[in-house]
Amino acid sequence: MSISSENIRIVSAKDSESLAEVHKKCFDDGWSAESFFNMLSSDVFFGFVYEKSSIDGFIIGKIVCDEVEIITFCVIPQFRNQGIGGALIKRVHNYAASRSASKIFLEVAEDNAAARKLYENLGYKKIAERKEYYNTKEGQKNATVMEKALRKDDQTFAAAL
Ligand SMILES: CC(C)(COP(=O)(O)OP(=O)(O)OC[C@H]1O[C@@H](n2cnc3c(N)ncnc32)[C@H](O)[C@@H]1OP(=O)(O)O)[C@@H](O)C(=O)NCCC(=O)NCCS
Repeated sequence: MSISSENIRIVSAKDSESLAEVHKKCFDDGWSAESFFNMLSSDVFFGFVYEKSSIDGFIIGKIVCDEVEIITFCVIPQFRNQGIGGALIKRVHNYAASRSASKIFLEVAEDNAAARKLYENLGYKKIAERKEYYNTKEGQKNATVMEKALRKDDQTFAAAL
């Protein structure tokens, strides 16, 4: 499958039902449509969806002053490992640069190898650990806090779809 920038668009509060469906397929504790609606009705949140016939994945962030936090990010299992997640996060890098943000940070479960690899390859570094941060079906899990400093000439901006 080829990943095309034409399939990425800005998320809207009108997508809330679809986002909740996708989120449920990706996380044990998927968020409700109402949560997405409330979030996306606020100016500090922003995001992008990857959509062909329907939404295959999305990313939502929050911008406060010059810092961006990735709030949630997921791709439906059957569409993973094709570059959709990478394309979405690079779109966030571009957005963050356009808003003159100086850094992006996020939390990721310590044992989430796929997400951590993707972030590391895009220049994110571990800056902290939060013990027993997530409650999951398998028990409590630690979170790793990762951060990427943004530079306008960062190659991930140029490479972004
Ligand atoms: C994280 C996620 C959004 C990535 O989406 P994606 O479309 O698969 O992303 P991409 O195809 O662009 O990249 C996948 C990367 O994971 C890596 N990967 C996949 N499975 C892996 C594994 N078991 N171990 C290590 N790396 C793995 C791939 O090598 C690839 O990295 P690279 O392209 O930099 O080499 C997706 O896995 C997902 O939705 N996971 C569940 C929800 C989640 O964990 N969200 C993030 C919370 S912080």
